Amino acid sequence: MATMQTLFLISVQLLLMLVRTSGGKVPAIIVFGDSSVDAGNNNFIPTVARSNFQPYGRDFYGGRATGRFSNGKIATDFISEAFGLKPTIPAYLDPAYNISEFATGVTFASAGTGYDNATSNVLSVIPLWKELEYYKDYQKKLRTYLGEKQASERIAEALHITSMGTNDFLENYYAYPGRSSQFTITHYEDFLVRIADNFIKELYGLGARKISLGGLPPMGCMPLERTRNLIGSHDCSQRYNNLALEFNGKLKDLVEKLNKELPDISLVFSNPYYVFLHVIRNPSLYGIDVTEVACCATGLFEMGYACNRENPFTCTDASKYVFWDSFHPTEKTNYVVASYLVKTVLAKFI
Ligand SMILES: *[C@@H]1O[C@H](CO)[C@@H](O)[C@H](O)[C@H]1NC(C)=O
Ligand SMILES: *[C@@H]1O[C@H](CO)[C@@H](O)[C@H](O)[C@H]1NC(C)=O
Repeated sequence: MATMQTLFLISVQLLLMLVRTSGGKVPAIIVFGDSSVDAGNNNFIPTVARSNFQPYGRDFYGGRATGRFSNGKIATDFISEAFGLKPTIPAYLDPAYNISEFATGVTFASAGTGYDNATSNVLSVIPLWKELEYYKDYQKKLRTYLGEKQASERIAEALHITSMGTNDFLENYYAYPGRSSQFTITHYEDFLVRIADNFIKELYGLGARKISLGGLPPMGCMPLERTRNLIGSHDCSQRYNNLALEFNGKLKDLVEKLNKELPDISLVFSNPYYVFLHVIRNPSLYGIDVTEVACCATGLFEMGYACNRENPFTCTDASKYVFWDSFHPTEKTNYVVASYLVKTVLAKFI
């Protein structure tokens, strides 16, 4: 019997064949967001939101801990590969790369950031407005490298991907009194949606036409939230999952609105919620055994520096787990989610 996973594999293979025979319409992937899509930008800024040490990256090429918050590749790496581009997307602040590599893919993402400036302040990471400043700087370099006309074409044809929002709720609104004393949760959601709205318009103003706006995962199922969910017997926090669903609904409406408002834009909503929850609720279909706790350390609360090579409890086979650390998925889960998004919403760009 074909499992869900082999079906995903087969369809991704088919898409890859299509890309290879058609030459591919997307020449670059340009990424904005948080730790779900950071490939190491935080290594080059003073913050504790880091993962450039073992056992992070132990299943990455050469076992390298790049600053990706996973044991291996992240979703955007798999998306790049599925589009026939390079198998990993480098971090813009990493001096090991230059514009010749960034021309086909780059990430400006920063672990710990969000839509809200106050979220990036919590761990002194790169705020979204600064990611956009880096993107403007990148465009200048791209124009020098490719020439004006080719660079503009490259930008218009490139797929721009955003993925953030979880930290605004879990690391900011529900963790500190600031925003929660200023906004009701509904008003805070609307405040974030307005920032997303402006951000997409800024990208559009800079020439981007193909954009994927990322939704929230079932964030109540992260091991850290399960650990905190004492009254709910450590099941997924329904409150946070419902919040993710509600916020995703608003992002979806925003996507519809902007597609009407902005001529020639092709904006899609990439919703990881249901596929992610499917993995959590049906792990055996994916060859996964453990959904409640993470692979790293005790799996209950550790991430970043608390997830380190000295910990004797870290699991030996991360592919049997949904989560790598208490806040981030394993490479396996990243692959399943990325493959699903490529096969569904992102397929229109191939
Ligand atoms: C980028 O770096 C490579 C070596 O890693 C070098 O050969 C190339 O000239 C550099 N390109 C630019 C545009 O600086
Ligand atoms: C975030 O900070 C930047 C830089 O100070 C500012 O330009 C921007 O308006 C702020 N965003 C919001 C939503 O307050």
